[in-house]
Amino acid sequence: MADTDFNTSTPRESAIAIIKEEHRALGNVMHALHQMMQDVFTHRTEPDQALIAWMLYCIDIYPERCHHPKEDEYLFRLLRERTSSADAMLDELQAQHVRGAQMMAYLEQLFVHYLGGAPDGLRHFADAVKSYAVFLWDHMEQEENRALPLAEKYLRPGDWQVTDDAFRANQDPLGDAEVQQEFRRLRQRMINLPPRKLKPHGSHD
Ligand SMILES: [Fe+2]
Repeated sequence: MADTDFNTSTPRESAIAIIKEEHRALGNVMHALHQMMQDVFTHRTEPDQALIAWMLYCIDIYPERCHHPKEDEYLFRLLRERTSSADAMLDELQAQHVRGAQMMAYLEQLFVHYLGGAPDGLRHFADAVKSYAVFLWDHMEQEENRALPLAEKYLRPGDWQVTDDAFRANQDPLGDAEVQQEFRRLRQRMINLPPRKLKPHGSHD
C-alpha cells in the first residue's frame, strides 16, 4: 500500500489524513497482535515470539515517541487555545495517553514473564493484549469522532499549517535523526500489515 498523497490537499486535509493514517497503522499492528493471540488459543498455533516482540516495539515507540506527542503539542494545544468547550474531552484523551503508556509497560512486563516461564504467562499476556487493543481502538475512535470534528470547527488555517508541518515531519521530539528514520520505517511496515478498520464508537469485537 502506498502512502496517501498529501501534496494535493490543504494543510487541514493533509493533517487529518496523516493522523488517520497513523491511527490505521497502529490499529493494524494491534489487530495483528490480537489476532495472533486468539489463534494461539483457538487453533493451538505456536506464538511467533520474534513477531510479538517487534509488534510491542512498534506500539511502544511509535505512539509514545511520535504520535501522541504531536497530538498533545499541536492539535490538542491549539484546540485548547481556540475554545474551552473541548477542555473536558481533551483532559480525558490526554489522560488516556498516560494510561496507554502504563498499559503498554505492563504488557511488556507480562511478555517478559511469559518468556521467563511464568505459570499461565501466555494467557495473562493474551488477556492484557485484548484489554490494550480495546482501549487503544476506543481511544483512536474518540479522537476521530469527537476531537477531529471540533478541531475542524475551531482551528484556523495557520493552526492547521503548523499541525500539518509537525505531522508531515514525523518528528522525534528529542530531535534524533536516526530515530526519525526509524519512525518512517516502522510506519510503512505498520501500514502494510493487514488492515483493521476503525469502527463507530462502542462496536468493538
Ligand atoms: Fe491519535
